[in-house]
Order: sequence, then structure tokens, then C-alpha cells
Amino acid sequence: MENIKTTLDYQTLTAFLEQERAMNTKVESGQPKLNHLVNTLMAQKCVSHGATRERDYFWDAAYFGMDQVGMYQAMPEEMKILALKLLTDHNLNEAYYIEKTGMSYAAKMILLSESEEEKALYSSIACDEATHLYEVKNFLNPGLEATYQGNGFLKFIADTAAQGSASICQAVLQVALEGHGMSHYANLRSGCLDPKFKEVLTRILLDEASHHGSGVVISINNQFSDSEKKILTEHMIQLGALLNCTLFPIVMVLEKLTGGLTSDQRTKVFEELNASAINADRLKNYRKLLTISKLDEKIPSTHQDQVFQSWNSQTCNQVFMQMLST
Ligand SMILES: [Fe+2]
Ligand SMILES: [Fe+2]
Repeated sequence: MENIKTTLDYQTLTAFLEQERAMNTKVESGQPKLNHLVNTLMAQKCVSHGATRERDYFWDAAYFGMDQVGMYQAMPEEMKILALKLLTDHNLNEAYYIEKTGMSYAAKMILLSESEEEKALYSSIACDEATHLYEVKNFLNPGLEATYQGNGFLKFIADTAAQGSASICQAVLQVALEGHGMSHYANLRSGCLDPKFKEVLTRILLDEASHHGSGVVISINNQFSDSEKKILTEHMIQLGALLNCTLFPIVMVLEKLTGGLTSDQRTKVFEELNASAINADRLKNYRKLLTISKLDEKIPSTHQDQVFQSWNSQTCNQVFMQMLST
């Protein structure tokens, strides 16, 4: 039988998976019967069926490390609550778009599968991601404008899902990103104040661990050409940099509520948030994920320092300023 990759190249799918289409598909079809059908289907699958957002924020100041930030401590109580609410919105929004892109990623991999087993695996992952999407949707504030604009992390995921070859997608999205997602969701779960959303996170965490595990099993046999190794290295450098930016949304909220921070104030906030230690820990985990899956062997030793480099508070501030000026 002819290898499907000779007839269906991954580049053929790029146009169908460009960012706008993967992330910005219409939320509702406008067909009431389809809406009813999908909602009934998801009601059977979701552990959060019937739940709504009942509190302003799902994580407290200690979870975000803001209890250590002088500027936050000095804020009036209502502004503190607003900051936590904005960060909760951010977490839910980000999860919503990750799950949405997860469905597109799985659809692409179903089409690129080279065996019935692989096709069945990605069909099952697609169903998980659709369920996760509806679980998260139950908690989005009515009227909350879900947006991915300006979120570099989401752009990276969407671009990789749209443009990457099967091997690149499996390595970057399924092994590295879903691997990071496991610790991210575990953290969210441990600090979550809402019992129902905590249950959702328990469920998502189990599924993401399985997605990551299957990615390791599949990608360990993938062969990378020299040009693919180069692409893989570039992606892993970008992902390493993004993992150093995980405190940025907190600083962004402080910028918004205070009307803007000076460079010194921002560096101090990063210090108080313990950026150096948190980034070092994230990058250590990232390295561990790539070592276990043997993906680190595909990255030239000359680039490994760059991939796994962690940033201190000063570097965070410099990158943040560059981001503001673009
Ligand atoms: Fe998911
Ligand atoms: Fe997943």
C-alpha cells in the first residue's frame, strides 16, 4: 500500500490550520438543532455539566506569588480582587484556546496517520480535547471576550500545529508542550479554590498525561532529517523562551491596574515573584522532558545552552519591555 505521506503531505493541510481557522472558528454554528445535539453530547461527557462560574477568582494571591509583591500588597482590597479576577480570566482563556487548537492538531494527525492504530489514537485525543474545551467553556464568564491576540504562547502553538510536519508536531506539541501542560495543570489544580473546576482539572490532567505519554511512544522512533533537526531546534529555543515568560501575565495585570510600571519597578516585581528560581525550575523540567523522550539528542550540543537557558529578573524585564514596544 502506498505510504499516505506521499499522497497527503503535511503542507497541504497548512492552509486549513492557519491561526485564524484553528483558533477563531465561530463558536456557534447558528443551527439550533446542531447546538442542541452537541450540547447533549457534551453533557454526557463533561464532569462539569451544568456548572457555571460562581466566584470571581479561582486562585488566590499566594498561588500567583502576589502576596510577596509590595505593589500588590499596597493596593485597595477591591483592586486586589480585580487583579485575581483578571488572572483567572487569563488562565481560563488560555486553556480554552489550547483545547481549541488541540482539536485541530488531532484532526491534522488523524489525516497524517500511517497506521490504523495511530488514526485511532488521534481520534481518541480529538474527542478528549473537544470535551476539555466544553469543560473550560462552562466556566468562562458570560460576556468575557475570549481572545488569543497578543498571547505569544498561543500563537506559537497555533503556528506549530498549522505548519509543522508530523514529527515536529509530535515532538513540540505532544511531547514537550503537553509534558509542560501536565505540571501546569497540576499546579492549577493544587491551588484551585473552586471544587467543580478542580474536578475538571483532575480529569484534564489525566488525559494530558496520556496524550504526552503516547507522544513519547510515537516520537521515540521518528527519524529527523538534518533540516528537520534544524527546525526542531528553532522550535525548542522558542518554547524555552516562552517558558521563561510564564510570569508575564501577572506583571501585565499590574501594569494595567497601576497605569504602567517603570523599568526598576518591573524588575523589582519580577524579583519579588521569584522569577529566577521559578524559571530555573521550569527549564529544568523542560530539559528532563526532552531527555526522557530522547529529543535532546536531536538538538545539536552547540544549541543546548540556548534551549535550556533560564532568565533572571533583569532579563525578564528586558524581554517584557521589548514586547511592549512591538
Ligand atoms: Fe486538552
Ligand atoms: Fe492534549
